[in-house]
Amino acid sequence: MDLRDIDEVLRRRVDSRRFRIKDIDQLKTVDDVFNQYTIDALRELMNRGIVEEVYGPVAQGKEAKVVWARSGSGEDIALKIFYTTTAQFIRGRYKYLLGDPRFTGVKVSNTRKLVEYWCRKEYGNLVRAFEAGVRVPRPIAFNRNILVMEFIGYKGQGGVPAPLIKDAPPDDPEEAYLTIVKYIERAFIIGKIIHADLSEFNIVNTGDELVIIDWGSAVKSNHPNAVEFLLRDIENVNRYFSKELGVRVFNSKALLNALLRRSDSKDNFEVDNEGWLIINGKRLIDEVHHDDEGGAS
Ligand SMILES: Nc1ncnc2c1ncn2[C@@H]1O[C@H](COP(=O)(O)OP(=O)(O)O)[C@@H](O)[C@H]1O
Ligand SMILES: [Mg+2]
Repeated sequence: MDLRDIDEVLRRRVDSRRFRIKDIDQLKTVDDVFNQYTIDALRELMNRGIVEEVYGPVAQGKEAKVVWARSGSGEDIALKIFYTTTAQFIRGRYKYLLGDPRFTGVKVSNTRKLVEYWCRKEYGNLVRAFEAGVRVPRPIAFNRNILVMEFIGYKGQGGVPAPLIKDAPPDDPEEAYLTIVKYIERAFIIGKIIHADLSEFNIVNTGDELVIIDWGSAVKSNHPNAVEFLLRDIENVNRYFSKELGVRVFNSKALLNALLRRSDSKDNFEVDNEGWLIINGKRLIDEVHHDDEGGAS
């Protein structure tokens, strides 16, 4: 689909969904994600001035619902509200929680504690990626099962979520590919974090820029499966950009090895005017070859 078509489709969709809530207890009747536990968490965010007004859901996933809202300062914000009741949540996430020292002491039987842990983890991951200079929704706050972040709208419009790149491919696929490679490197080298669920399903296109969302599964670079996750992210991105958009991508293993080498470097890095990290005098793209070339990795 073309971005211009999406423009109209999304506008119509969001108009029909838009609702305004004055008394947040009303939310219980309009959407079952708002149980009393979640309402209490939301009320606290409102008392703290972080959330001012709640509009309506813009996306629904297996583990969370994303709701459009407005902050105390009038900014459009997104609330990612994790479901507190599904057994599915636990099954889907358990393997990511194992091996994480922060998980120690959390009983699997306590779903709410797990969900709160997950929400806090996604917030922490977002902060790391954001501070590393990766374009992500700016993290604002969290409370219980509610993560508050910048709303990523299509062309900056409130209430119209930017489409995923799988539905709205970038106009310049080569440039977009390099941007994502740059973000993978920044996250890994500066943030010491790996997204671990990176694909065309978690990258949105605002029409002006690409934004990487959904950092709940991300792991630190010292996680026992870090290298495996990093390679999988690279392979997913390479597959999408080469198969779907015809971009001449870098060899996955060469990219992985270059990233691992660069992360070992004790050198301080500089940044060039295109935003590439310079490590030992080289940019990442100077150290890798394309899939259709030979060469050492
Ligand atoms: N900050 C945001 N601003 C606007 N829309 C968002 C934001 N974060 C997520 N979304 C929308 O919600 C959907 C689900 O969010 P995501 O974080 O990917 O959760 P899930 O775990 O359900 O995949 C996304 O595909 C996107 O459409
Ligand atoms: Mg997602």
